[in-house]
Amino acid sequence: MGNIKSTTTILVNGATGGFGMFLLQFLKQKEAKVTAVTSTKGIEFAKKWGANKVIDYTKTNVLSQKTTYDIVIDLSGTMGYKNAKQLLNSKGLFLNPTPKPIEIPTSLFKNLFTAKKHIVILSSPSTKHTEVLIGSVKKGFQIEVNKVFPFTQFKEAYQYAEKGGIIGKVAVEIN
Ligand SMILES: NC(=O)c1ccc[n+]([C@@H]2O[C@H](COP(=O)([O-])OP(=O)(O)OC[C@H]3O[C@@H](n4cnc5c(N)ncnc54)[C@H](OP(=O)(O)O)[C@@H]3O)[C@@H](O)[C@H]2O)c1
Repeated sequence: MGNIKSTTTILVNGATGGFGMFLLQFLKQKEAKVTAVTSTKGIEFAKKWGANKVIDYTKTNVLSQKTTYDIVIDLSGTMGYKNAKQLLNSKGLFLNPTPKPIEIPTSLFKNLFTAKKHIVILSSPSTKHTEVLIGSVKKGFQIEVNKVFPFTQFKEAYQYAEKGGIIGKVAVEIN
């Protein structure tokens, strides 16, 4: 995020789930030029959270457009590096938080021979990151909560979230 400027162009594929909701708002803070890809019901949310342009993936194949970007991030797990490459500028980055296990080592090797880099994102929650997120919410970040489950139903909450089609977050309440 440190390298993102107001001139940076970014395509966020899968922009209105739990990850995209915060990402769009962070990118808006940086004044980056963001194109969000979501389904029809996510269009207004993507605009509200800061997208400059929205593509409805149920109506338009994102790969059919001519525009290229500095960064493509795929939060849907459907794009893959091969497809993302077509959408990247000559020195663009593909950020991939849903890599296949083999891509973790192979992306490092292949990146030695291409200017269009495949960056695998592996993160686990940390206190520092959680504090940044809480601070951002206190300063006005919006949170869309699709459904709240009591703690005793945490398993059902995961099953519900895994079905997809959710705008924002599914929450588990801890008293
Ligand atoms: N590596 C890591 O450290 C890390 C950390 C956190 C999360 N993740 C991963 O990052 C991904 C995103 O997390 P999330 O919580 O935001 O997931 P999510 O809530 O399921 O969001 C996925 C998004 O993708 C959209 N989508 C589905 N099919 C699509 C398609 N064909 N084209 C474009 N968009 C499509 C969905 O839209 P509709 O529902 O409207 O169809 C939804 O907005 C997940 O796969 C998660 O496992 C990785």
